[in-house]
Amino acid sequence: MRPADATGALDLDRIQGTILRERPMPYFGSYLLYEVGDAAQGRTMLNRLLPYVTSAADWEHPAEEAWLNVVLTHQGLARIGLPQEILDGFAREFREPMRTRNEYLGDIGESDPAHWDLPRHGSFDIGVLLMAPDEEAFAEKLAIGQAAQADLASVQRVSRLDVRTPDNLREHFGYADGISRPYIEGQGGTPRRGQTRVKPGEFVLGYVDEQGRIASGPGPETLWRNGTYLSIRKLHQKVAEFRRFLQSRADDEYGQELLAAKMGGRWRSGCPLALSPDKDVAVEPERLNDFAYYDDDPRGSKTPLGSHIRRVNPRDSLKDSIVDIRLHQLLRRGAAYGPMLPEGVLEDDGVDRGVVLAFANAHPGRQFEFVQSQWVNDGDFISAGGEQDPLVGNHVTDGDFVYAAKPVRRRLRGLPSFVVTKGGEHVFLPGVNGLEYLAAGRW
Ligand code: HEM
Repeated sequence: MRPADATGALDLDRIQGTILRERPMPYFGSYLLYEVGDAAQGRTMLNRLLPYVTSAADWEHPAEEAWLNVVLTHQGLARIGLPQEILDGFAREFREPMRTRNEYLGDIGESDPAHWDLPRHGSFDIGVLLMAPDEEAFAEKLAIGQAAQADLASVQRVSRLDVRTPDNLREHFGYADGISRPYIEGQGGTPRRGQTRVKPGEFVLGYVDEQGRIASGPGPETLWRNGTYLSIRKLHQKVAEFRRFLQSRADDEYGQELLAAKMGGRWRSGCPLALSPDKDVAVEPERLNDFAYYDDDPRGSKTPLGSHIRRVNPRDSLKDSIVDIRLHQLLRRGAAYGPMLPEGVLEDDGVDRGVVLAFANAHPGRQFEFVQSQWVNDGDFISAGGEQDPLVGNHVTDGDFVYAAKPVRRRLRGLPSFVVTKGGEHVFLPGVNGLEYLAAGRW
């Protein structure tokens, strides 16, 4: 391993692939979650998985598009025998089960952890994350996961959640997704136009972060270097409710699309309002992210201050405030679960559908948790009091959403919640070196 003060290229062959690899399209994936009774058997499972773990080595042009990655919860690390003094040194947000942090994260009301179903029995220890471009490759990776556990009596699978591309190749509300992501210095390749450059230590432990420090973890360096935390959320989407809402607050189809765009910050096609505020137009892929807000749209007349993408990544908008947006960047990995509600259906069919989001962050407190609590579920940072993210806020108090319109700005009152949290956990995604250390069990 390179020394911890290296600031150059990332050790791509030691970092698990999910951080950098592009999600295939279409995709076939799964979250397989296991509970471990016996420490030695848990480590045996890790040993068996190790040869199949996909790194980020060839992330731009992978020889094989499918991947398999392995994560552990804090409880999982304890159950495979990691000593207490090391366990105590991990980030606090990771040490505490996410369900106990629910008030802060806004998981209240319908989103209360009492109703969560991922994992089914409340907790898990080891997770195997699969992603593949077709059924066949998926089946191959699934078989590896299953074989690793097969004869280990004390290792039980407690949940399996499959993710699949909805038929319209978008997410369930109908928006194109997977567009914006930061460029990690040292990842290789060339930053795309408008892509925010972020120091690697914001996303991967063992590298310099935006505060000029090496992001680190507890115990020997080999345990944490090239690893990171993934903040996982299972979010149920009330698609029928969302469609009815658009219909009830707009006069015609254009009005519905415009409202969806104002809420999201992009037209559902992916075209940013920043580039075309009044009409949905085709935009070349390399321009989809090429915009900022401070000079061009300080008051939000194109992209509302409270719209989803402007909240969760205000880009340069907060330049004059004390908030340093470089410390709150998220690297999103997301995939949809559940079948699509057929186009045009306005009644809920009772089927569970939504998205599983996994945010990679080396500092989950000031990254995922900050964004979720301050930018999604609060409006103070844009002087909008208790207003929340119109698309994904919890709206337990029936929040408002204000946006610029002609001739006068519009205030939509009493937004219902369109998204309900159904599960979540901060997990550790070790580097390949970390996995080797954990599998060996020589502490
Ligand atoms: C069901 C829930 C959600 C849906 C449907 C959703 C949808 C979207 C869409 C359509 C985009 C724009 C396209 C793109 O850049 O990929 C986006 C961007 C983004 N979302 Fe979400 N999102 C959800 C939840 C969340 C949550 C809970 C967070 C953070 C706590 C989040 C963080 C982000 C970030 C950081 C971006 C990129 C913004 C940018 O850089 O411009 N999303 N989301």
